[in-house]
Amino acid sequence: MSMKFSNRLMERLIEARRIVALTGAGVSAESGVPTFRGNDGIWSRFKPEELATVDAFMKNPQLVWEWYAHRKKIIASIQPNAGHVALARMEEMFEQFVLVTQNIDNLHRRAGSKTVLELHGNIERNYCMKCGSIFANDEVTIQAGAPRCEKKYEGLSCDGLVRPDVAWFGELIPEDQWKQSARAAESADVFLSIGTSGVVYPAASLPLIAKRSGAYLVEVNTERTALSDLADEFLEGASGVVLPALCDRLKGTIRSPGTIV
Ligand code: APR
Repeated sequence: MSMKFSNRLMERLIEARRIVALTGAGVSAESGVPTFRGNDGIWSRFKPEELATVDAFMKNPQLVWEWYAHRKKIIASIQPNAGHVALARMEEMFEQFVLVTQNIDNLHRRAGSKTVLELHGNIERNYCMKCGSIFANDEVTIQAGAPRCEKKYEGLSCDGLVRPDVAWFGELIPEDQWKQSARAAESADVFLSIGTSGVVYPAASLPLIAKRSGAYLVEVNTERTALSDLADEFLEGASGVVLPALCDRLKGTIRSPGTIV
């Protein structure tokens, strides 16, 4: 079954020079990563305030680390899906294609996307809260409780608490990632909001910034969201189905970035 895309959407995409894609947990759902707010979502089983806040971590770093160790194991065992791959292919089709993700699973980069702005961090990265040193997952062990930093300064071990490099509720998101994302949204010709319920800010304000700046706003989701009424197009369906179909449809019409055949 080949998906139908409106002429208006195709025209907008073909003449577009700058595209921004904002992704949420829905894009990784088909890779086996549970979403947050669906009926089988993570937050239906765990309380975010007990696991994804600085207070929770300072109160019980061991519990929060056990939860992230569990999530790191899931992420290490899964693969990017056709939706991730399609976004990596689309990056090559436009003069400027900026991918902004709320996901911490690193699947966009693994699928080949090069310009990825990570608003909520990356579960494959960790850092020392005292000296700021960065550690990959294989450099961090949580056998004896929450991992401590073993960097040496004048012969003394830093011993700072190491945490996952992910944004927790109530925390500021990385300023440089946000600034680049907001700037890209302001100058987007087409803004794609894909697989996100659009309820967590400031990420959820990006589609609004784009729309206000004149972008053509497209939503890809299996169900309608708070954003759907504002979107110029609502493409109902799984991102792993819609995005490859859109890619194939575009392939025949765009010869190289920014020009039309
Ligand atoms: N294809 C497209 N959309 C899908 C798919 C799919 N295969 N499966 C689910 N969805 C949609 C759901 O309908 C929902 O609108 O993906 C969205 C997932 O929403 P959430 O679970 O709320 O995830 P997200 O929007 O990414 O959450 C934002 O909240 O908990 C924090 O930091 C966490 O980054 C996360 C942020």
